[in-house]
Amino acid sequence: MKRTRLGQSDLEISRILYGSMGRRTSSEADRIRSIHAAIDAGTTSIDTAPLYDFGEVEKVLGKAIRDRRERVEILSKVGLRWDGNHGDTLFEFEDESGTRRAVRRDSRPVAIRKDVEESLGRLGTDRIDLCQIHHPDPRVPIEESLGELGRLAEEGKILHLGVSNFSGRELDAAVARAPSSHPVASDQLHYSLLSRGAERDIVPLSRRHGFGLLAYTPLEAGALTDSMLTPDRLDSVTRERSTHFRPKNAAAIRSVLSEKVAPIAARHAASVTQVCLAWLLHQEHVDGVIVGASSVEQVIAHAAASDLALEPGEVESIGQAFTSVDIDPMAGQDWRTRADHFVTRARRRLGRILRRR
Ligand SMILES: NC(=O)c1ccc[n+]([C@@H]2O[C@H](COP(=O)([O-])OP(=O)(O)OC[C@H]3O[C@@H](n4cnc5c(N)ncnc54)[C@H](OP(=O)(O)O)[C@@H]3O)[C@@H](O)[C@H]2O)c1
Repeated sequence: MKRTRLGQSDLEISRILYGSMGRRTSSEADRIRSIHAAIDAGTTSIDTAPLYDFGEVEKVLGKAIRDRRERVEILSKVGLRWDGNHGDTLFEFEDESGTRRAVRRDSRPVAIRKDVEESLGRLGTDRIDLCQIHHPDPRVPIEESLGELGRLAEEGKILHLGVSNFSGRELDAAVARAPSSHPVASDQLHYSLLSRGAERDIVPLSRRHGFGLLAYTPLEAGALTDSMLTPDRLDSVTRERSTHFRPKNAAAIRSVLSEKVAPIAARHAASVTQVCLAWLLHQEHVDGVIVGASSVEQVIAHAAASDLALEPGEVESIGQAFTSVDIDPMAGQDWRTRADHFVTRARRRLGRILRRR
């Protein structure tokens, strides 16, 4: 497994990181087995968050690393809570009793401290290697949130601080206002062959400011894997909900995977999944790729992608081929849903324009 320093910090991470978010389909024992397989394969950096399964994922991770804490780097998050009334709603969910509840952005210093202390308890550790603000919180000045993270770092409870899902403007502000003793080490963002918006604004900023980039959802939850070439295996609810798996979009993705990626994979005796991960690792601005896995076999295959050396021409041609994939976010939806989508999008755009003035 190749390793690298995260941005300009002295935190060393594995280039493939284990994404612990997962789905509730596997047992605790299976999850622990996957985490141990990842660590044994060199995937020592593990990304998690209090939000994942509302604390349960951190608890399982804590059990898994109990006897191997010194071998791993823990990346967790702060700033999203599901048990209070403060802050803007990010999304709503139905709890086990059928009650509708909200996940809210809350990056006030008091909430951040609570998040970190609760995470340390669940993880059974005395430090978090990288603590990331999960989503920007427009109600709280960024210097207040970063200031509290700086204080937690002074106390040794976190070692480095980062952000996630920040826009270019929010990143500029975070970099400028972070405590000088603890600069922003990284931004975690959605980045894959099918999601490349970051190349326009976030990538140039990471070069200018020197923070690292951690790409999440690199396989688009399975749309950029070998399974896409055998569609009868694609049967989960999550996938039914994702637009990438709707027939029109899936056909466009499948065509590029089979015509462009599969021949390159065959040349390297690798899988399509591994080539899609390696493509991201070959982007010079990407420090690490956070991948989710539902089996030990997947974990081992993901780790091996870090050693896959693609030719510059292959990287270029894969990237180019995906620019022709035109994903219709509303594929398969009725006209009313499509209309709602376009109105909401237009409203958001107008809001952004008005805020800039
Ligand atoms: N900061 C944030 O806001 C944020 C948001 C999202 C995710 N993340 C992080 O990023 C991590 C990864 O994201 P993700 O889980 O959304 O997406 P992902 O890594 O793109 O997809 C993971 C899923 O792809 C499928 N898969 C993986 N390898 C495969 C293979 N070889 N063949 C077939 N299918 C395969 C598995 O689903 P099956 O169960 O179907 O096999 C797996 O659960 C998360 O765990 C989390 O740590 C962060």
